[in-house]
Amino acid sequence: MTEDVLVVHGGTPLEGRIRVRGAKNLVSKAMVAALLGDSPSRLFDVPKIRDVEVVRGLLGLHGVKVTDGEEDGELVFDPANVESASTDQINVHAGSSRIPILFCGPLLHRLGHAFIPDLGGCHIGPRPIDFHLQALREFGATVDKRPEGLHLSAPNGLRGTKFSLPYPSVGATEQVLLTAVMAEGVTELRNAAVEPEILDLICVLQKMGAIIKVHTDRVIEIQGVPKLHGYTHRPIPDRIEAASWAAAALATRGHVEVLGAQQADMMTFLNIFRSVGGEYEVTDLRPPRNGQPGQEGGIRFWHPGGELKSVALETDVHPGFMTDWQQPLVVALTQARGLSIVHETVYEQRLGYTEALNSMGANIQVYRDCLGGTPCRFGRRNFKHSAVIAGPSKLHAADLVIPDLRAGFSHLIAALAAEGTSRVYGVDLINRGYEDFEAKLADLGAHAERP
Ligand code: EPZ
Repeated sequence: MTEDVLVVHGGTPLEGRIRVRGAKNLVSKAMVAALLGDSPSRLFDVPKIRDVEVVRGLLGLHGVKVTDGEEDGELVFDPANVESASTDQINVHAGSSRIPILFCGPLLHRLGHAFIPDLGGCHIGPRPIDFHLQALREFGATVDKRPEGLHLSAPNGLRGTKFSLPYPSVGATEQVLLTAVMAEGVTELRNAAVEPEILDLICVLQKMGAIIKVHTDRVIEIQGVPKLHGYTHRPIPDRIEAASWAAAALATRGHVEVLGAQQADMMTFLNIFRSVGGEYEVTDLRPPRNGQPGQEGGIRFWHPGGELKSVALETDVHPGFMTDWQQPLVVALTQARGLSIVHETVYEQRLGYTEALNSMGANIQVYRDCLGGTPCRFGRRNFKHSAVIAGPSKLHAADLVIPDLRAGFSHLIAALAAEGTSRVYGVDLINRGYEDFEAKLADLGAHAERP
């Protein structure tokens, strides 16, 4: 077995072209939605990442036949024989991902009961599931928390409800959607999250026969239907992965074209990228013409030379600057002249990774105050959730241990940008959300190898 460490020889700009596939944070939810259909579903452009494997395993345990389709990245789900799985079988997936919580509604509809293992996912704050459970109870489910996991049942079926989220949580919005589509009557969800991945999940559900209206002001209305069928869907591309490679291009003074990246879903990122001094060009899709081959669209990102500029930004729910974009970008901000401010308002503990950057020569201080923006939920709760980055700093190599997915990618970028040879431990965690990242690094000319 290969040791879980990557040896990275830094200092070479990343140059070249890579492609992103379907968004991890849509694909995994669309896979769960397949459980609701009474006929097979077909999903294209599915990346080969660990989260997909976990959901595939859980679907398989519940009788959904998952097979590879003809096209590379195509999965076919046949839900004809949905059945219960034992808690022992399900618990094999305990701690591996947060997606299992989204099986609640579909399993309650199909089987009348559900068992959800202990959740995993990145350790970036307490990540409670209180909104999910409250919503499920509103639909009429009973929830029994036991040491081995959650047991849910809905002996009398699920009924539509009016529910307002205390915060526009992505997962809780998806929970409500996946439950309401087949609940009896109308559901009105207020303060819903409206991330592009959620709108794409709504497209999937609508293809299946659901009736969902997205009103203004974060209100979603769902008219329950008794039956849904399978879907065929090509997901939106992964805008988090695209931004990660863009940040890597900027931090290493390189030039990376990300095929598949879509401008509309990345507008807020692109504005900040330009404010920092990075340059980009949107390359639109060109269909084949006059015998000439077509060209896939994407976005080219590059460092134009000279110095980067400091910025102040705060992470937020869509259409704000995504919390998952901040860690890779902060590495580039260590190279910007002046003081940059990052106010993290989505997760309370998502700046711990900056210590590793400081060990490489960065100058980042974290604060409990809400700096540079409007006060947020964490301001009075003693969480270090604002960072001040003083730059530019020369980064040098270090031994790094990857703490979570996005912070892990930022460690990798820092190692690529630094002078000298770094050892990045726990690098397999990156496979949870970045398909073939080692092959992509090689395509971009990075000098990195397994020892
Ligand atoms: C999704 O997580 C993504 N994960 C995250 O990406 C992403 O960072 C996040 O949305 C925000 O965009 C997946 O889609 C699998 P939330 P989710 O519910 O749904 C609080 C990545 O690296 N909250 O929107 O779990 C919560 O603690 C991952 O790809 C409650 O208090 O995020 C957080 O502070 C990391 N109670 C805030 O809401 C609840 O019941 C937003 O969380 C639910 C959430």
